[in-house]
Amino acid sequence: MPKQAQQKRAAARINAFSPAKINVFLRIVRKRPDGYHELETVMLPLDFGDIITLENRKSGLLLECDHPGLAADDTNIALRAAKLLAEHSGVNRGARITLRKRTPLAAGLGGGSSNAAAVLAGLNRLWQLNLADKALHHLAAQLGSDVNFFLARGAAVCRGRGEIIEPVECKFSGTILLVNPGFGIATKWAYDRWEKTIAGARLTGTTPEVSLLLRALAEDDLDGVARGLFNSLEAPSVRKFPVLQLLKDTLCAHGAVGALMSGSGATVFGLFAEKDKAERAAQRAREQFGPSIWTSVTRFAERLGVEPSSEDCPVV
Ligand code: C5P
Repeated sequence: MPKQAQQKRAAARINAFSPAKINVFLRIVRKRPDGYHELETVMLPLDFGDIITLENRKSGLLLECDHPGLAADDTNIALRAAKLLAEHSGVNRGARITLRKRTPLAAGLGGGSSNAAAVLAGLNRLWQLNLADKALHHLAAQLGSDVNFFLARGAAVCRGRGEIIEPVECKFSGTILLVNPGFGIATKWAYDRWEKTIAGARLTGTTPEVSLLLRALAEDDLDGVARGLFNSLEAPSVRKFPVLQLLKDTLCAHGAVGALMSGSGATVFGLFAEKDKAERAAQRAREQFGPSIWTSVTRFAERLGVEPSSEDCPVV
């Protein structure tokens, strides 16, 4: 196709959905010499998340964000992702990135990592860079341990420090209720806490076998998934923040088949057979724990992500 025609088809604006995730399984295998922790974790992308709009500019990278608690400067991983891609590709264009933030911050839901993946994949398309998946994954791993997972856009077992992705079959159709206590937990703090507490006591107990959980996800076996839920980081964090256990207990008392802290917290989630039960449990949690509690009723959703918007128009 002639270059001019190609350019005419290019999008001037791309809307990207930036999903949140939950970890239904997170086992710390060991601490590594580089300070990171070797993981075996199973993550599911959700149909809940942020919306990112990417618009072509002649030059310069601009980020606008509607969340008062999130700076729109270089500390924001979405902008860092754009800069890394621009540097790597040597592109001579700019972009305006608009982030409509819905996911709570420092919540164990992968919000920042997901934004970074959406920016990498979205700008690759907007700027017509045609970078291969391998190159994007190489950049993703430099930005954070969970960014590769969001690039892959599906349920996965993640190993290494989280950046080695193995897609898995998932037919899970249960309802997922997210409950955030209204405070964040820094990822580094959660890992440090794990190290300190396991030295004194075996807080993590017995680790379930990941293969049982994977089979349950593939067979949409809600009870099997609930039985397989595990998170090494949960017990140390619950010791410091007992409200996390109380939230889990509330979800289970109101119909959750299983409940767990996601990632490094502080969000906990409950798995439900029926959506209306999850909605009632969300209401009870808000009544019981007060206005700082945030809830969202959602579900597993595969292959959501960067799609060209209906507003596509020629680059000028
Ligand atoms: O890679 P990311 O920036 O998301 O990690 C944030 C922090 O979480 C790291 O600096 C590290 O302290 C901790 N971490 C870890 N092991 C992992 C992932 C994260 O110790 N596998």
